[in-house]
Amino acid sequence: MSSQEPGYFTEGNSAEVVISRNAQATDARLAQVMAVITRHLHAAVKEIEPTMDEWLAAVMFLTRTGQMCTDWRQEYILLSDTLGVSMLVDAINNRKPSGASESTVLGPFHLDNAPELPLGANICLDQKGTPMLVRGRILATDGTPLAGARVDVWQANDEGFYDVQQKGIQPDFNLRGVFRTNEAGEYRFTGVKPKFYPIPDDGPVGQLLLALGRHPYRPAHLHYILSADGFQTLTTHIFDPDDPYIHSDAVFGVKESLMARFDLISDPARIAAEGLAGPFYSVTHDFVLAPAG
Ligand code: BEZ
Ligand code: FE
Repeated sequence: MSSQEPGYFTEGNSAEVVISRNAQATDARLAQVMAVITRHLHAAVKEIEPTMDEWLAAVMFLTRTGQMCTDWRQEYILLSDTLGVSMLVDAINNRKPSGASESTVLGPFHLDNAPELPLGANICLDQKGTPMLVRGRILATDGTPLAGARVDVWQANDEGFYDVQQKGIQPDFNLRGVFRTNEAGEYRFTGVKPKFYPIPDDGPVGQLLLALGRHPYRPAHLHYILSADGFQTLTTHIFDPDDPYIHSDAVFGVKESLMARFDLISDPARIAAEGLAGPFYSVTHDFVLAPAG
């Protein structure tokens, strides 16, 4: 025991003893983080009063969570997502000025090397599902349109699967594309009406959700990463407000301001004008980027 420690470890002084043991930490931020975690963790254990079996069950849950992780499966991030921690960290790091569009989770299905496509391109490479014409503008907070902004989009298909989940079934880079806005700050592309889908739920996080009486579904959405010189990069989604899971997203990613309108167009004249064979969805959504710095 060092001379600065507040006595031997007891149930009453447990957190203080552990925190003072870390007093020689060379990294002040690490010391602060460990002090906060120790204080809250010990308080939680004192409130819960776990049995030894319960403590071991928690250790084994975390062990299985780690064992589930691979290069393409991050079970700890899923745990963070379903605990609401990912969205909390996102909110803390993306406080926006008034008028700027809000962020939400990146998720595990983004690819860095999606193809750059001309405005208006169809990103649905297998012609499955109901076509969806998506358009909008990228603006500064004063309403100025941002020409040349980068619009990186990706989405699940009409059955709720991303291309990377169905290799050999969907074409590579299906329902992904990178666009540049025109002089009026506009982007547009054709996708397909997405469907809700479950987050990967065949591991310990899925078992925890089941035990908690929770479903693993995310409401239908489109993902965006928007960037422009002089502006903060925005990672966000737009959501279908009529989706059955819109009020119970498994990862808490829904925000009121991210609701879009998905209008089903059945008028034969408009179908013909778009050169389509049947009804389609029309989605128009503008985004406002916050200035950098
Ligand atoms: C997604 O929207 O792609 C996603 C986000 C969090 C967890 C799983 C999937
Ligand atoms: Fe998604």
